Amino acid sequence: MSKQEPAIPNGLLEALRTAQHVVALTGAGISAESGIPTFRDAQTGLWAQYSAEELATPEAFQRNPRLVWDWYGWRRQMVAAAKPNAGHLALARLEHLVPTFTLITQNVDGLHAAAGSREPIELHGNIMRVRCALEATRYTTWSEEGALPPPCPSCGAPLRPDVVWFGEQLPVIALERAWSAAATCDVMLSIGTSGLVEPAASLPRLAYNRGATVAVLNLDVTPHNQERLYLLNGQAGNLLPALVTALEQQG
Ligand code: APR
Repeated sequence: MSKQEPAIPNGLLEALRTAQHVVALTGAGISAESGIPTFRDAQTGLWAQYSAEELATPEAFQRNPRLVWDWYGWRRQMVAAAKPNAGHLALARLEHLVPTFTLITQNVDGLHAAAGSREPIELHGNIMRVRCALEATRYTTWSEEGALPPPCPSCGAPLRPDVVWFGEQLPVIALERAWSAAATCDVMLSIGTSGLVEPAASLPRLAYNRGATVAVLNLDVTPHNQERLYLLNGQAGNLLPALVTALEQQG
């Protein structure tokens, strides 16, 4: 049976058609169909005994840098093998259909840029980069010949993944750009995020309270349509292509 083409509410299409500024906020759910487990998915294999919350922290890195380094190495291999899916590609198309488009992601997998989205705001960093734990100098290539985590080539302190750990501050510029986009957009799409982690979780509420139209695209929402608030249940890889195709057909 062919995949049921999801119906996109007319009110949402109308809001998108007339919008000057559209924001998309994405979470781990948009990369699930690229084979990358979400944070709320149970960890597998060697890592099944740990939860993301206990590994993605400065304290865990302080206590056992090698364990945390290896966990990110395992995740980096998964990300390196992953391809953008129909959801990522649809957002790259959407960018060309509206006057101003801002993509904000909590994901660290780089799949939005790989799909062709220009300048995604990476609120939580990027797993394909590391930085010196002391000087914060960033590197996109490094050697793993000697002891792990590798020493910073310039000061010898350990290198660490260039991602935001629980309890850490978000990159200031990225956060300011995200707040500003939420404060000025006409439509915000919140896609594949559980909305449990601040400050990203507040962005849709901020936009809605200012008068923007908000649509939540998620596997675990009950469908709901009301003025300026649309809850669409389904996979991002289904919903987003249907939304963008409907918008393209409206012309
Ligand atoms: N399509 C749409 N939504 C999906 C899909 C899918 N194919 N698969 C899963 N989801 C939804 C889940 O229902 C869940 O609500 O995506 C959401 C994923 O939630 P989390 O795993 O909590 O991921 P996220 O919201 O991105 O977590 C935010 O928390 O763990 C920290 O820093 C980490 O960036 C992460 C942040």
